[in-house]
Amino acid sequence: MSQLFSEVTVGPHTYKNRVWIPPMCQYSAVEGMMQDWHAVHYGAFITGGAGLVIVEATSVSPEGRISAGDLGIWTDQQAQVLAEIPRFAKRHNTKVGIQIGHAGRKGSCHAPWKGGAPLTEAEGSWETIAPSAVAFEGYPTPREMTMDDINKARYQFAAAVERAVMAEFDVIEIHAAHGYLLHEFLSPISNQRTDEYGGSFENRIRLLLEIVSEARLTIPPHRSLFVRISATDWIEGGWDVEQSVALSRELKARGVDLVDVSSGGLSMRQEIPLGPGYQVPAALKIEEETGIPVSAVGLITTAAQAEEILKSGDITAVMIGRASLGNPRWAYQAAQDLGDPIPWADQYARGFVARN
Ligand SMILES: Cc1cc2nc3c(=O)[nH]c(=O)nc-3n(C[C@H](O)[C@H](O)[C@H](O)COP(=O)(O)O)c2cc1C
Repeated sequence: MSQLFSEVTVGPHTYKNRVWIPPMCQYSAVEGMMQDWHAVHYGAFITGGAGLVIVEATSVSPEGRISAGDLGIWTDQQAQVLAEIPRFAKRHNTKVGIQIGHAGRKGSCHAPWKGGAPLTEAEGSWETIAPSAVAFEGYPTPREMTMDDINKARYQFAAAVERAVMAEFDVIEIHAAHGYLLHEFLSPISNQRTDEYGGSFENRIRLLLEIVSEARLTIPPHRSLFVRISATDWIEGGWDVEQSVALSRELKARGVDLVDVSSGGLSMRQEIPLGPGYQVPAALKIEEETGIPVSAVGLITTAAQAEEILKSGDITAVMIGRASLGNPRWAYQAAQDLGDPIPWADQYARGFVARN
């Protein structure tokens, strides 16, 4: 039996395998509402054999979107439509999560296939907010958040989490990575505040910990809370793996079930040593030093590589992003490659028989 296709238990859930699909923005929502595209896109992953599928970054507010096409969960109606995804997933024995986020100073942009640049006023830009009035390179300078803004963000995250619980997602993931709002608070490069939300490590992690504590109170014990972090900014003097270890200890103490370990995205000055599994060492270190379950992501593309990573240490699951866009049923193929075939969806069973 392979590691990749073994069951794994984290918090309240047992996942049927350790192939997980990470959140991937589709920039295809209308007024924050899920569309047919999302149903087809997530449907393919859900029927494709993955143990967990995490729905893309879904914004807590209209201003918290990266683009006008981002999913939102700031209204009950948005949540009710999103609830179709967990409803479908239950019928296919697939766990499903949703990533809840706020884009901060990296909001108000075009979709990537339209260049990804910040919107102009004529194109419908909106004011972005951040811990400090420090721009992401090439972007407009955000407005420094007041205490009212910070309290409002806390409330918006809590309300969004509550709606995600109502929609019956198995996992709720707080997005604190990739240079978006909560990561902007963590990193001394983007957070230059002088009040209790900036300066020291304890102050920079404060907002995330408040949001996590409030989320944990809302999420019942039979559902999971994950946090995605950028383990390092890949910039001298920025957020780094040591701070991620210390943060993960605090997250564990507050009932977070798993840290989803990504990296980068805070500044164009980053120097990322891109290569197969380049973020795995950070995930291993966080798990080893804190004991909190972790997932690994980033340039994991083949079954053999995924299996090797799982055997190298105590990593709960690997996330397969871009490789699964090319083949949403990556798990079917990977299982076959490892000589450990998994049953396909009933409707596809004749294909399984033909290939195995
Ligand atoms: C189209 C696309 C959209 C993405 N959107 C998100 C997102 O919504 N939230 C997030 O945390 N990461 C997002 N990511 C990053 C992925 O979750 C993943 O961490 C990254 O692609 C590295 O994994 P990979 O090499 O397997 O693709 C996105 C990546 C892609 C390719």
